Amino acid sequence: MSMQGPQTKALFEKARQYIPYGVNSNFRYWGDDDTLVIQRGQGAYIWDADGKRYIDYRLAFGPIILGHAHPKVNQAVAEAIQNGTLFAWTTPYEISLAERIVRLTGVDKVRLTNTGSEATMHALRIARAYTNREKFIKFEGQYHGQVDYFMFSTASTPARALGSRRSPISSPTTSGIPRDIHKYVINLPFNDFEAVERTVKDQWGDIAAIIVEPLLGNAAGILPEPDFLEHLRKLCDEYGIVLIFDEVKTGFRIANGGAQEYFGVRADLVTYAKAMGNGFPIAAIGGKEEVMMTVQPGATAHGGTYSGNVAGAAAADAVLAILETEPVIETIWQRGEALMKGIDGILRDAGIPHVVTGLPPIFSIMLGSDEAPKDFRGYLQTDGELYEAIAMELIARGVMPDSDGREPWFLCAALSEDDVAETLNVFSDAVKAVKKA
Ligand SMILES: Cc1ncc(COP(=O)(O)O)c(C=O)c1O
Repeated sequence: MSMQGPQTKALFEKARQYIPYGVNSNFRYWGDDDTLVIQRGQGAYIWDADGKRYIDYRLAFGPIILGHAHPKVNQAVAEAIQNGTLFAWTTPYEISLAERIVRLTGVDKVRLTNTGSEATMHALRIARAYTNREKFIKFEGQYHGQVDYFMFSTASTPARALGSRRSPISSPTTSGIPRDIHKYVINLPFNDFEAVERTVKDQWGDIAAIIVEPLLGNAAGILPEPDFLEHLRKLCDEYGIVLIFDEVKTGFRIANGGAQEYFGVRADLVTYAKAMGNGFPIAAIGGKEEVMMTVQPGATAHGGTYSGNVAGAAAADAVLAILETEPVIETIWQRGEALMKGIDGILRDAGIPHVVTGLPPIFSIMLGSDEAPKDFRGYLQTDGELYEAIAMELIARGVMPDSDGREPWFLCAALSEDDVAETLNVFSDAVKAVKKA
């Protein structure tokens, strides 16, 4: 059965005439029959072109932290753009936003940019320029954006392409990447203390950075084991390597100060995007004074026509002002805990082995085993097909997580206790429907 009603189908067919596969990001393509056209969003809900309402747990892959079409954020942007949008000079919005980011996250300095991919690309360049080294370590199943260097052994990579655990292969996720780039990328299994230590001790003179999503935000929210992030910090300190936290998904979501605050480990560079703009395009690279000052004009390039644009900066300034003054994360945390607990109970009662992992504002469900995977290889052993079957039943009933279990459930502050109760009822029905089938 198609997810598309008649209006959605007609619009999507038109989309396909002009836009390759009808989407402007391949992650949005669910096939010709199941790709939706969304008409509007409000608070925790979105409506498709046929007027069908969904409680939204995809939240645009994470950015919507307050809720769709938040009135204060929209008003701040509407007012700001009356006086122009881009000047190729610094604006007061950028100054106010940078001050807030520094206050909330504890970084010393911050540069603005537009997307997560730009932020991680620049962070890697800064790390290379700072250390005068070229290689970097990332972890399997992590996604750091569309930059060629990062498109190896991401969450889209199948198990057979990862190679052996002792000798992982940096496997390209896409066609179109120059073959030799893999020489600069070292992929290791997440939470593997020994593999990181061995690699750093062997190759430290070539390694500019370790870039890590502090929790696997693109692979089911798998958490770092106790002391893993501290271990990375210690190795980076010892061997002069720049530690980059990619907080594009965790920043301004798991705590106002992100993963640095939640896990109590400080990185040298941190990338932010998604939640800071509640859906407006804005991102940031923050970090320690000495490392950030590497972007010296004429020495190390960081630029962008739209970096710090008025719409994005005004939006993010308004979002962070709300985070500073209202219990946004606390509310999301409570709703997320109730959902995780409720889902755990439903799956237990249904006799389906499972693990609910991640943190309440960004959590995931893995099926097929009661043992929590500690890395992406472990995730690939779980029953993704059963998860997808349940997710599709949820979506048919108006509750929308991603159908791919690697993508976590995201929560926004507009989600009410009633929405949580409705979600759990629907979840129970969806599980029953799948068991029956
Ligand atoms: C951890 C992480 N880093 C970077 C990116 C890239 O961000 P963007 O899609 O804004 O370029 C993403 C996107 O999902 C992400 O999850």
